[in-house]
Amino acid sequence: MLTPTTDVDRAVAAIERGGLVAIPTETVYGLAADATNPAAVRRIFEVKGRPAGHPLIVHLADAAALDDWTSDVPAGARTLVALAWPGPLTVLLPRSGLVLDEITGGRASVGLRVPAHPLTRELIGRTHPLAAPSANRFGSVSPTTAAHVLADLGDRLDPDLDVILDGGACPIGVESTIVDFCVDPPQILRAGGVPPEQVEALMGADLADATGPSRASGMLESHYAPRCPVILVDTQDEADAAARDRPGSVVLGVTDDIAQYARTLYSSLRAADDAGASCVIALLPPAAGLGHAVRDRLLKAAAPRR
Ligand code: TXA
Ligand code: MG
Repeated sequence: MLTPTTDVDRAVAAIERGGLVAIPTETVYGLAADATNPAAVRRIFEVKGRPAGHPLIVHLADAAALDDWTSDVPAGARTLVALAWPGPLTVLLPRSGLVLDEITGGRASVGLRVPAHPLTRELIGRTHPLAAPSANRFGSVSPTTAAHVLADLGDRLDPDLDVILDGGACPIGVESTIVDFCVDPPQILRAGGVPPEQVEALMGADLADATGPSRASGMLESHYAPRCPVILVDTQDEADAAARDRPGSVVLGVTDDIAQYARTLYSSLRAADDAGASCVIALLPPAAGLGHAVRDRLLKAAAPRR
Protein backbone atom coordinates (compact mmCIF):
# COMPACT_ATOMS: atom_id res chain seq x y z
CA MET A 1 0.00 0.00 0.00
CA LEU A 2 1.15 3.48 -0.89
CA THR A 3 1.70 6.27 1.67
CA PRO A 4 1.16 9.88 0.50
CA THR A 5 4.32 12.02 0.61
CA THR A 6 5.16 15.72 0.56
CA ASP A 7 8.55 15.00 -1.05
CA VAL A 8 8.61 16.45 -4.59
CA ASP A 9 11.88 14.61 -5.35
CA ARG A 10 10.00 11.30 -5.10
CA ALA A 11 7.30 12.61 -7.44
CA VAL A 12 9.95 13.77 -9.95
CA ALA A 13 11.54 10.29 -9.89
CA ALA A 14 8.13 8.63 -10.40
CA ILE A 15 7.34 10.75 -13.48
CA GLU A 16 10.83 10.13 -14.89
CA ARG A 17 10.43 6.34 -14.60
CA GLY A 18 7.05 6.47 -16.35
CA GLY A 19 4.95 6.10 -13.19
CA LEU A 20 1.81 7.97 -12.14
CA VAL A 21 1.71 10.78 -9.57
CA ALA A 22 -1.46 11.98 -7.86
CA ILE A 23 -0.96 15.76 -7.94
CA PRO A 24 -2.49 18.42 -5.69
CA THR A 25 -4.02 21.36 -7.55
CA GLU A 26 -6.08 24.34 -6.41
CA THR A 27 -9.23 22.61 -7.79
CA VAL A 28 -9.07 18.83 -7.14
CA TYR A 29 -6.31 16.17 -7.15
CA GLY A 30 -5.23 14.90 -10.57
CA LEU A 31 -3.78 11.52 -11.60
CA ALA A 32 -0.78 12.56 -13.69
CA ALA A 33 1.63 11.03 -16.17
CA ASP A 34 4.36 12.49 -18.39
CA ALA A 35 2.30 13.86 -21.31
CA THR A 36 5.02 12.77 -23.75
CA ASN A 37 5.03 9.10 -22.59
CA PRO A 38 2.22 7.11 -24.30
CA ALA A 39 2.56 4.00 -22.10
CA ALA A 40 2.38 6.09 -18.92
CA VAL A 41 -0.66 7.99 -20.25
CA ARG A 42 -2.44 4.71 -21.13
CA ARG A 43 -2.00 3.52 -17.54
CA ILE A 44 -4.05 6.49 -16.29
CA PHE A 45 -7.09 5.03 -18.06
CA GLU A 46 -6.46 1.55 -16.59
CA VAL A 47 -6.07 2.82 -13.04
CA LYS A 48 -9.13 5.09 -13.21
CA GLY A 49 -11.27 2.60 -15.09
CA ARG A 50 -11.89 5.40 -17.57
CA PRO A 51 -13.02 4.62 -21.15
CA ALA A 52 -10.19 5.31 -23.61
CA GLY A 53 -12.08 7.91 -25.67
CA HIS A 54 -12.31 10.39 -22.77
CA PRO A 55 -9.69 13.12 -23.32
CA LEU A 56 -7.25 14.34 -20.64
CA ILE A 57 -6.13 17.86 -19.73
CA VAL A 58 -2.43 18.66 -20.24
CA HIS A 59 -1.05 20.64 -17.28
CA LEU A 60 1.68 23.13 -18.23
CA ALA A 61 4.30 24.95 -16.14
CA ASP A 62 3.37 28.34 -17.61
CA ALA A 63 1.56 30.06 -20.48
CA ALA A 64 4.79 30.21 -22.52
CA ALA A 65 4.44 26.44 -23.15
CA LEU A 66 1.06 26.99 -24.85
CA ASP A 67 2.48 27.36 -28.34
CA ASP A 68 4.26 23.98 -28.18
CA TRP A 69 0.95 22.16 -27.61
CA THR A 70 -1.38 24.03 -29.96
CA SER A 71 -1.37 24.83 -33.67
CA ASP A 72 -3.31 28.08 -33.32
CA VAL A 73 -4.09 30.34 -30.36
CA PRO A 74 -6.85 32.90 -31.02
CA ALA A 75 -6.34 36.35 -29.47
CA GLY A 76 -9.25 35.80 -27.04
CA ALA A 77 -7.61 32.67 -25.64
CA ARG A 78 -4.31 34.48 -25.15
CA THR A 79 -6.04 37.30 -23.31
CA LEU A 80 -7.94 34.91 -21.07
CA VAL A 81 -5.00 32.70 -20.08
CA ALA A 82 -2.77 35.73 -19.47
CA LEU A 83 -5.31 36.87 -16.86
CA ALA A 84 -6.44 33.54 -15.40
CA TRP A 85 -3.27 31.38 -15.30
CA PRO A 86 -2.04 29.94 -13.07
CA GLY A 87 -5.58 29.11 -12.00
CA PRO A 88 -8.73 27.02 -12.38
CA LEU A 89 -9.20 27.50 -16.14
CA THR A 90 -8.83 24.94 -18.96
CA VAL A 91 -8.86 26.05 -22.60
CA LEU A 92 -9.60 23.75 -25.54
CA LEU A 93 -7.46 24.65 -28.56
CA PRO A 94 -6.44 22.97 -31.83
CA ARG A 95 -3.70 20.47 -30.91
CA SER A 96 -0.11 20.52 -32.20
CA GLY A 97 1.81 17.50 -33.50
CA LEU A 98 3.31 17.03 -30.02
CA VAL A 99 -0.02 15.96 -28.52
CA LEU A 100 -0.47 12.18 -28.24
CA ASP A 101 -3.67 10.54 -29.51
CA GLU A 102 -3.89 8.83 -26.11
CA ILE A 103 -4.47 12.26 -24.55
CA THR A 104 -7.17 13.56 -26.89
CA GLY A 105 -8.91 10.29 -27.77
CA GLY A 106 -8.16 11.18 -31.38
CA ARG A 107 -9.85 14.62 -31.22
CA ALA A 108 -8.44 17.63 -33.09
CA SER A 109 -8.43 19.70 -29.87
CA VAL A 110 -6.43 19.54 -26.65
CA GLY A 111 -7.35 20.81 -23.17
CA LEU A 112 -4.61 22.87 -21.50
CA ARG A 113 -4.24 24.44 -18.08
CA VAL A 114 -1.59 25.92 -15.77
CA PRO A 115 -2.47 24.81 -12.22
CA ALA A 116 -1.69 27.09 -9.28
CA HIS A 117 -0.43 24.63 -6.64
CA PRO A 118 3.29 25.27 -5.84
CA LEU A 119 4.25 21.57 -5.43
CA THR A 120 2.69 20.61 -8.76
CA ARG A 121 4.19 23.60 -10.55
CA GLU A 122 7.60 22.57 -9.23
CA LEU A 123 6.99 18.98 -10.38
CA ILE A 124 6.02 20.09 -13.91
CA GLY A 125 8.93 22.52 -14.06
CA ARG A 126 11.38 19.74 -13.16
CA THR A 127 9.89 17.09 -15.48
CA HIS A 128 7.43 17.52 -18.35
CA PRO A 129 3.92 18.78 -18.93
CA LEU A 130 1.57 16.31 -17.20
CA ALA A 131 -1.55 14.71 -18.63
CA ALA A 132 -4.10 14.27 -15.84
CA PRO A 133 -7.78 13.67 -15.18
CA SER A 134 -9.19 13.98 -11.67
CA ALA A 135 -7.74 11.24 -9.43
CA ASN A 136 -10.99 9.40 -8.67
CA ARG A 137 -12.42 6.13 -9.97
CA PHE A 138 -14.33 6.87 -13.17
CA GLY A 139 -17.75 8.40 -12.48
CA SER A 140 -17.27 9.02 -8.75
CA VAL A 141 -16.64 12.19 -6.76
CA SER A 142 -13.36 14.05 -7.40
CA PRO A 143 -10.77 13.89 -4.58
CA THR A 144 -9.86 17.07 -2.70
CA THR A 145 -7.35 15.49 -0.28
CA ALA A 146 -4.53 12.95 -0.60
CA ALA A 147 -6.56 10.66 1.71
CA HIS A 148 -9.43 10.67 -0.82
CA VAL A 149 -7.01 9.58 -3.57
CA LEU A 150 -5.68 6.81 -1.35
CA ALA A 151 -9.21 5.61 -0.55
CA ASP A 152 -10.23 5.56 -4.25
CA LEU A 153 -7.07 4.38 -6.00
CA GLY A 154 -4.69 3.09 -3.30
CA ASP A 155 -5.22 -0.56 -4.25
CA ARG A 156 -4.78 0.17 -7.97
CA LEU A 157 -1.53 2.14 -7.75
CA ASP A 158 1.89 0.46 -7.64
CA PRO A 159 3.97 1.43 -4.56
CA ASP A 160 7.19 0.71 -6.49
CA LEU A 161 6.23 2.93 -9.42
CA ASP A 162 3.65 5.54 -8.39
CA VAL A 163 3.43 8.38 -5.84
CA ILE A 164 0.64 10.32 -4.14
CA LEU A 165 1.98 13.86 -3.63
CA ASP A 166 0.27 15.36 -0.58
CA GLY A 167 -0.25 19.11 -0.98
CA GLY A 168 -3.04 19.49 1.58
CA ALA A 169 -6.74 20.08 0.97
CA CYS A 170 -7.62 21.73 -2.38
CA PRO A 171 -8.61 25.36 -1.69
CA ILE A 172 -11.26 25.69 -4.47
CA GLY A 173 -12.71 22.20 -4.33
CA VAL A 174 -14.46 22.03 -7.74
CA GLU A 175 -12.79 21.38 -11.11
CA SER A 176 -11.53 23.99 -13.56
CA THR A 177 -13.82 25.97 -15.86
CA ILE A 178 -13.48 24.65 -19.42
CA VAL A 179 -13.69 27.13 -22.33
CA ASP A 180 -13.75 25.75 -25.88
CA PHE A 181 -11.88 28.03 -28.30
CA CYS A 182 -12.31 25.61 -31.22
CA VAL A 183 -15.76 27.10 -31.89
CA ASP A 184 -16.68 30.69 -32.67
CA PRO A 185 -17.83 32.30 -30.43
CA PRO A 186 -16.02 30.36 -27.67
CA GLN A 187 -18.22 28.23 -25.40
CA ILE A 188 -18.07 27.43 -21.70
CA LEU A 189 -18.31 23.61 -21.58
CA ARG A 190 -17.98 23.17 -17.81
CA ALA A 191 -18.61 25.70 -15.06
CA GLY A 192 -15.78 25.57 -12.54
CA GLY A 193 -13.33 27.49 -10.38
CA VAL A 194 -13.38 30.64 -12.54
CA PRO A 195 -17.00 31.90 -12.46
CA PRO A 196 -18.52 32.28 -15.97
CA GLU A 197 -19.24 35.97 -15.25
CA GLN A 198 -15.52 36.41 -14.63
CA VAL A 199 -14.56 34.61 -17.87
CA GLU A 200 -16.80 37.01 -19.78
CA ALA A 201 -15.47 40.05 -17.92
CA LEU A 202 -11.85 38.98 -18.53
CA MET A 203 -12.53 38.47 -22.24
CA GLY A 204 -14.73 41.52 -22.60
CA ALA A 205 -17.25 39.41 -24.53
CA ASP A 206 -20.40 37.33 -24.09
CA LEU A 207 -19.81 33.62 -24.49
CA ALA A 208 -22.18 30.94 -25.61
CA ASP A 209 -23.20 28.82 -22.60
CA ALA A 210 -23.06 25.13 -23.38
CA THR A 211 -23.29 23.96 -19.76
CA GLY A 212 -27.06 23.39 -19.75
CA PRO A 213 -28.66 19.94 -19.52
CA SER A 214 -29.27 19.81 -23.29
CA ARG A 215 -25.54 19.63 -24.02
CA ALA A 216 -24.56 16.54 -25.99
CA SER A 217 -23.00 14.13 -23.52
CA GLY A 218 -20.40 11.44 -23.96
CA MET A 219 -17.51 13.87 -23.86
CA LEU A 220 -17.77 15.03 -20.29
CA GLU A 221 -18.14 12.64 -17.36
CA SER A 222 -21.81 12.26 -16.59
CA HIS A 223 -21.69 11.76 -12.83
CA TYR A 224 -19.96 13.29 -9.87
CA ALA A 225 -22.04 11.19 -7.52
CA PRO A 226 -21.71 9.62 -4.08
CA ARG A 227 -23.09 6.09 -3.60
CA CYS A 228 -26.16 7.26 -1.67
CA PRO A 229 -29.00 9.14 -3.44
CA VAL A 230 -28.87 12.96 -3.64
CA ILE A 231 -32.06 15.01 -3.26
CA LEU A 232 -32.01 18.70 -4.29
CA VAL A 233 -33.98 21.44 -2.53
CA ASP A 234 -34.21 25.20 -2.99
CA THR A 235 -34.84 26.43 0.54
CA GLN A 236 -33.85 25.62 4.12
CA ASP A 237 -37.53 24.90 4.93
CA GLU A 238 -37.66 22.29 2.17
CA ALA A 239 -34.39 20.83 3.45
CA ASP A 240 -35.79 20.57 6.99
CA ALA A 241 -38.99 18.94 5.73
CA ALA A 242 -37.08 16.45 3.56
CA ALA A 243 -34.79 15.62 6.49
CA ARG A 244 -37.81 14.92 8.76
CA ASP A 245 -39.15 12.47 6.14
CA ARG A 246 -35.87 10.63 5.72
CA PRO A 247 -34.15 9.18 8.78
CA GLY A 248 -30.37 8.92 8.43
CA SER A 249 -30.12 11.73 5.87
CA VAL A 250 -27.40 14.39 5.78
CA VAL A 251 -28.18 18.02 4.82
CA LEU A 252 -25.64 20.03 2.76
CA GLY A 253 -25.63 23.72 2.09
CA VAL A 254 -23.86 26.84 3.23
CA THR A 255 -25.49 29.14 0.73
CA ASP A 256 -24.22 32.37 2.33
CA ASP A 257 -20.60 31.30 1.79
CA ILE A 258 -20.42 29.82 -1.68
CA ALA A 259 -16.61 29.44 -1.63
CA GLN A 260 -16.91 27.24 1.45
CA TYR A 261 -19.76 25.25 -0.12
CA ALA A 262 -17.56 24.58 -3.17
CA ARG A 263 -14.47 23.78 -1.09
CA THR A 264 -16.29 21.23 1.09
CA LEU A 265 -18.77 19.84 -1.47
CA TYR A 266 -16.92 16.68 -2.47
CA SER A 267 -15.54 15.91 0.99
CA SER A 268 -19.08 16.25 2.37
CA LEU A 269 -20.47 13.84 -0.24
CA ARG A 270 -17.72 11.34 0.62
CA ALA A 271 -18.29 11.81 4.34
CA ALA A 272 -22.00 11.07 3.88
CA ASP A 273 -21.14 7.74 2.22
CA ASP A 274 -18.52 6.93 4.87
CA ALA A 275 -21.07 7.61 7.61
CA GLY A 276 -23.60 5.32 5.91
CA ALA A 277 -26.08 8.17 5.30
CA SER A 278 -29.42 7.09 3.78
CA CYS A 279 -29.28 10.07 1.40
CA VAL A 280 -27.86 13.57 0.96
CA ILE A 281 -30.29 16.49 0.92
CA ALA A 282 -28.49 19.39 -0.80
CA LEU A 283 -29.54 23.03 -0.99
CA LEU A 284 -29.00 24.43 -4.49
CA PRO A 285 -27.09 27.72 -4.24
CA PRO A 286 -28.03 30.71 -6.43
CA ALA A 287 -26.70 30.54 -10.03
CA ALA A 288 -23.98 33.16 -9.57
CA GLY A 289 -20.20 33.03 -9.22
CA LEU A 290 -18.98 29.64 -7.93
CA GLY A 291 -22.67 28.77 -7.50
CA HIS A 292 -22.78 27.80 -11.21
CA ALA A 293 -20.21 25.05 -10.64
CA VAL A 294 -21.77 23.82 -7.38
CA ARG A 295 -25.23 23.64 -9.02
CA ASP A 296 -23.81 21.78 -12.02
CA ARG A 297 -22.13 19.13 -9.83
CA LEU A 298 -25.17 18.75 -7.59
CA LEU A 299 -27.49 18.34 -10.60
CA LYS A 300 -25.18 15.64 -11.95
CA ALA A 301 -24.93 13.95 -8.54
CA ALA A 302 -28.75 13.88 -8.34
CA ALA A 303 -29.34 12.68 -11.92
CA PRO A 304 -30.81 9.20 -12.39
CA ARG A 305 -28.08 6.54 -12.19
CA ARG A 306 -26.85 4.65 -15.25
O1 TXA B 1 -9.63 21.08 -12.34
C1 TXA B 1 -9.51 20.25 -13.22
O2 TXA B 1 -9.81 20.45 -14.41
C2 TXA B 1 -8.96 18.87 -12.81
C3 TXA B 1 -7.52 19.06 -12.33
C4 TXA B 1 -6.85 17.76 -11.99
O3 TXA B 1 -6.80 19.77 -13.32
N1 TXA B 1 -9.01 17.95 -13.91
C5 TXA B 1 -10.17 17.40 -14.34
O4 TXA B 1 -9.97 16.48 -15.35
O5 TXA B 1 -11.25 17.68 -13.88
P1 TXA B 1 -11.12 15.48 -15.81
O6 TXA B 1 -10.49 14.62 -16.85
O7 TXA B 1 -11.70 14.78 -14.65
O8 TXA B 1 -12.17 16.42 -16.48
C6 TXA B 1 -11.80 17.10 -17.67
C7 TXA B 1 -12.96 17.12 -18.62
C8 TXA B 1 -13.37 15.73 -19.06
O9 TXA B 1 -14.77 15.64 -18.97
C9 TXA B 1 -12.90 15.65 -20.50
O10 TXA B 1 -13.78 14.88 -21.28
C10 TXA B 1 -12.90 17.11 -20.92
O11 TXA B 1 -12.52 17.82 -19.78
N2 TXA B 1 -11.90 17.36 -21.97
C11 TXA B 1 -10.55 17.32 -21.86
N3 TXA B 1 -9.95 17.52 -23.05
C12 TXA B 1 -10.95 17.70 -23.94
C13 TXA B 1 -11.00 17.93 -25.34
N4 TXA B 1 -9.91 18.01 -26.09
N5 TXA B 1 -12.22 18.04 -25.92
C14 TXA B 1 -13.34 17.94 -25.18
N6 TXA B 1 -13.37 17.72 -23.86
C15 TXA B 1 -12.21 17.60 -23.24
MG1 MG C 1 -13.07 13.95 -13.47
